[in-house]
Amino acid sequence: MSRPASVVALYPGSFDPITRGHEDIARRALRVADRVIVAVAYTSTHTKSGLFEIDERVELIQSVFEGESRIEVMSFTGLLVDFAREQGAHLVVRGLRAVSDFEYELQMAQMNQELNPDLETLFLVPEVKNSFISSSLVRQVAALGGDVSTFVSPAVLNRLLAKLDT
Ligand code: PNS
Repeated sequence: MSRPASVVALYPGSFDPITRGHEDIARRALRVADRVIVAVAYTSTHTKSGLFEIDERVELIQSVFEGESRIEVMSFTGLLVDFAREQGAHLVVRGLRAVSDFEYELQMAQMNQELNPDLETLFLVPEVKNSFISSSLVRQVAALGGDVSTFVSPAVLNRLLAKLDT
């Protein structure tokens, strides 16, 4: 398999909301790809109750990466492998924080490999200070009045606090 002239990486997830950990992974992906598409999934493999609407998540991610011309943000329905094909993506990027992430990630990567053998999954490791952050913990801590200002960007923090206030 030859290396494409311009590498497009898809960074899929729920991003409910985007955290500093996600930001870290998307920026690291720029080291191996020419373009990164942050892709907000309508359907997550995890059963989760959402806080932000998909369009709000996209908007927040766009505001976080404003000025970063190599990062695009989209949402998608259906299978990740189909969306990757539509977008001409060569790689799927996922963050690995701890061993506890590994089983779920390996299973998804292998299923995606089976569904599209041409699509590679690349695991990237966040900085240690971001390795315990998850959207679900951010939502929970914020809902219970805890300070999450170091775990999300200011735009996300404002929307999170406004949302929890309503
Ligand atoms: O942030 P998450 O919720 O862990 O991300 C999981 C996600 C969205 C990457 C995964 O559920 C996904 O790819 N969903 C799209 C539907 C799909 O392709 N499912 C089969 C995955 S093997």
